Amino acid sequence: MVASSGSARDGWSSRTAFILAAIGSAVGLGNLWRFPAEAGQNGGGAFVLFYIFCVIFIGLPVLLSETLLGRHGQASAPESVRRMAAESNALSAFMIVSFYCVVGGWVLYYVYVFAGDLVTTGLAGGAFEGRDRAEIEGILPGLFGSARLMITGHLVFFAITMFFVMRGVSQGIEWVATWLMPAFFVLLVGITLYGLTSGAGMETLTYLFSFDFTKLTPQVMLAAVGQAFFSLSLGVAGMITYGSYAGRDINLGRTSGIIASADTAVALIAGLCIFPIVFAAIAAGATDLSVEGCPGLRFAALPGGLQAMPCGAFIGLVFFIMVGFAALTSSVALLEVPTSWVMERFETSRMVSTLGVGLSAALLGIFAALSFNEWSDVRPLAFVPIFAEANVFDALDGVTAKIFMPLGAILTCVFVGWVAEPRLVDTENGLNGWLHQLWRALVRYVCPLVLIVITFFGLFG
Ligand code: PFF
Repeated sequence: MVASSGSARDGWSSRTAFILAAIGSAVGLGNLWRFPAEAGQNGGGAFVLFYIFCVIFIGLPVLLSETLLGRHGQASAPESVRRMAAESNALSAFMIVSFYCVVGGWVLYYVYVFAGDLVTTGLAGGAFEGRDRAEIEGILPGLFGSARLMITGHLVFFAITMFFVMRGVSQGIEWVATWLMPAFFVLLVGITLYGLTSGAGMETLTYLFSFDFTKLTPQVMLAAVGQAFFSLSLGVAGMITYGSYAGRDINLGRTSGIIASADTAVALIAGLCIFPIVFAAIAAGATDLSVEGCPGLRFAALPGGLQAMPCGAFIGLVFFIMVGFAALTSSVALLEVPTSWVMERFETSRMVSTLGVGLSAALLGIFAALSFNEWSDVRPLAFVPIFAEANVFDALDGVTAKIFMPLGAILTCVFVGWVAEPRLVDTENGLNGWLHQLWRALVRYVCPLVLIVITFFGLFG
């Protein structure tokens, strides 16, 4: 976790910078790639509704707790609780960044493919003009099948992430968040409107928003909780770290509301963007796609969807560049967590810590990248029923989102709700009256209990 007072502490240059950087951390591949894939694998509407419930009643109170905890520092925390929270959080962030950068590598590969296509097709043409569907559908399997491409993409993305973490938080990443997140948002909305009006709009709306409660199994509930944490950067000290760089003038209650709303909006829009394209591709005879999807769902579907779009090659390129930036603002936040923990724990410089942590996580990520090809048969957690089929990549993803993140959040709730002096966490949360009471009750009772129950039944039920 982070130091409460710090030698080399960096800070946000303004309130807006903090909000945008926190949104930058929250909005990332979790929204654009993981949310549509999880919704597809977990039955659509029921998952989406429960996800929104989790964001409001669990994610939001935990988000406020994390940012509060970060800003106050942990000086007053009993050492044992602090240690436990810090170590489990830093470890999960370490595991997540390792496979996150593998997906970042896919984005880079698509940037490369679309850039090549733009050169051949020109500005006005649709993506991959004149190429047949089989060829376009072959792009993702071609990438997954090549260990060399997967590892190269991963390492390049990791190197870029390390570069920004080495420079410190306010240098550069703030700029990326401030300028590129709004541009990304405009583009996402544009592509979504196009997809909804020109493709399978109704089918998508029905799929994402018709709630069949029989589909709400304990596993789907756990998947939704895990996704809410992943997407809001919670349970791994992501928001504790960013909150620790926040000034006293910031109203954390309001800010948390803004972050959670923006993040959820992007996830829902990403769902509205991706599914029309998937449904349209399936209707057109795509053989390799299903809504249940593979981890590459959106990546597999987009090139085909952009083929018929005017300026598709150009829009595809710009879009994947934007996805890359959204991913980068998140991967930097992820790597920052274990890096700042090592800096504090071993009193090393930022440079040494980034190199040590980054290179080890990059190495772990190589095994995740191999899950799609050379190591596709390796099942590291074969002895755990719900992870029995998971390869290294899925195991890292599943264990962090379904065990570590809920656990990290339970620790945060216990700490903020029960251990920390109320004076420290209550006076500056920016909430008044009943909202404050509600937050307090959620953090002390509802969140920890619900999380324990959902995690237990999701894993063993
Ligand atoms: N919230 C990010 C996403 O949705 O892509 C992932 C993430 C970033 C998780 C930072 C945790 C974190 F600390």
